[in-house]
Amino acid sequence: MGLRIAIGSDHRGVRVKGLIVEQLRGLGHDVVDMGPEETAPVDYPVYASKVAGAVSRSEADRGILICGTGLGMSIAANKFRGVRAVTCHDDVTAEASRRHNNANVMCLSADMLGERLLSRIVDLWVRTDFEAGRHQRRLDQIAEIEAEQGTSPEGGSCCG
Ligand code: RB5
Repeated sequence: MGLRIAIGSDHRGVRVKGLIVEQLRGLGHDVVDMGPEETAPVDYPVYASKVAGAVSRSEADRGILICGTGLGMSIAANKFRGVRAVTCHDDVTAEASRRHNNANVMCLSADMLGERLLSRIVDLWVRTDFEAGRHQRRLDQIAEIEAEQGTSPEGGSCCG
């Protein structure tokens, strides 16, 4: 069954976002493109908030975020309750982030990854299942840290 996938980028990731949207729709997933549409400079936390917020509120099963490095998006997305965002840059990180970390948001670099590699990473990431078992215990521990820290599901008042 197809996943509900929210996707967003900053200005550096707009072109790659278009390619990934096409790929995911071709695979039968329900994709919501949360922008931006233009390549005029924008701030990545705004789009990280839209996508990670949708995942946090269970409006999307997974999220994909693209910026120049994939780093800022990951930092911002991880502020949202229940979000496990990772920056992936190859097959190993894409697969392990699903098998071991049950990552629900993947962040990608538009500047450093070629189109064929990006396509492989996306394909692997959407079709790899979480292994659970001992990994679930560790995710539970992360959830406890999150509860102790009181992360807001709305991400505070920033970037509205
Ligand atoms: C924007 O210049 C750049 O900082 C952004 O795309 C991203 O790489 C941040 O982590």
